[in-house]
Amino acid sequence: MRRVYNFSAGPSMLPLSVLERAAAEMTDYQGSGMSVMEMSHRSPVYEKIIGETEQLMRSVLNIPDSYKVLFLQGGATTQFSAVPMNLLTGSGKAEYVISGQFSQKAYEEARRYGDVRVLASGADNQFRRIPVFSAREVRQDADYVHICYNNTIFGTRFPEIPDTGKVPLVADLSSCIMSEPLDLSRFALVYAGAQKNMAPAGLTVVFVREDFLGKAMAITPLMLNYQVAAEHSSMYNTPPCYAIYIAKLVLEWVRDDIGGLAGMAERNRRKARRLYEYLDASRLFSNLVETSSRSIMNVTFTTGDRSLDERFCLAADQAGFVNLKGHRSAGGMRASIYNAMPEEGVNDLVAFMEAFEKQD
Ligand SMILES: Cc1ncc(COP(=O)(O)O)c(C=O)c1O
Repeated sequence: MRRVYNFSAGPSMLPLSVLERAAAEMTDYQGSGMSVMEMSHRSPVYEKIIGETEQLMRSVLNIPDSYKVLFLQGGATTQFSAVPMNLLTGSGKAEYVISGQFSQKAYEEARRYGDVRVLASGADNQFRRIPVFSAREVRQDADYVHICYNNTIFGTRFPEIPDTGKVPLVADLSSCIMSEPLDLSRFALVYAGAQKNMAPAGLTVVFVREDFLGKAMAITPLMLNYQVAAEHSSMYNTPPCYAIYIAKLVLEWVRDDIGGLAGMAERNRRKARRLYEYLDASRLFSNLVETSSRSIMNVTFTTGDRSLDERFCLAADQAGFVNLKGHRSAGGMRASIYNAMPEEGVNDLVAFMEAFEKQD
């Protein structure tokens, strides 16, 4: 078996032990005589899987009891529409912080539904810094403020949860969910596509405070209505059964092998520190993100020379460090070092970069 170090921005690596367990249970899940892929989602054996997944998620991520956990589909992108359709129904005003391409997309979608304004934007500095704002600048009658907590493409993240006064906060956590402890009680709603830190593609999770349910616009499709999903325990229709089962295995891995989110955070911070320290000392590569805005999940870097960047990606790929090419809108390189990337993967990558730098 040959496994590469996969630095893909998503879908991305899953823990090897999870893949092996899934393989062992592939054709006969715990004596059921069938694969989880083949099960009715209404069968007792599957109901146990989804129930345990929710309980594990609640305990590992410390989700307050007053929040509903929803297992949905359609990716984080569908939430760009679902969030305004469900929440933009009080004053009809919302504030969006533009910290990268995904928050821009979320903003553009939300504008179709109400009086939606850009509260702050990092476009002027090529998204190398998280835009700052104070609660005083937030329209205090707005229905919510939307942020993207970690910006997958530009490699930035909010250094802390911003203060929005009394206006509810909504966050896209797609590329940082479960990477470190986060006080979820500070948010009215968070959402994430699961394909980076949690599961394969196909599952989207939403944690929403119960008092934000039941406010959706009348035109909201049933499948985008949080109240409908909550009332049917995420089973209004067939849920992404297999992705939910893998999420359960990943949660067990975080709890049992990593030491929960505290252990996960330590490991992730060590990995990021190793890369940033090397990049800051390197004479060939550099990271252009302002220090306080640096992501611990997506580390961007460049030589400043496009053809040299390409040469590096090719050499890295041949050496087993794959998917290091940066996003087409940002250029350069990006190492996505999500939860499942082992520390050796980062240490070996740094050693490879040092060797590349020496021979250049
Ligand atoms: C922060 C963030 N938001 C949204 C998305 C879009 O997610 P999806 O492809 O699940 O719709 C991504 C995907 O990479 C992302 O990184």
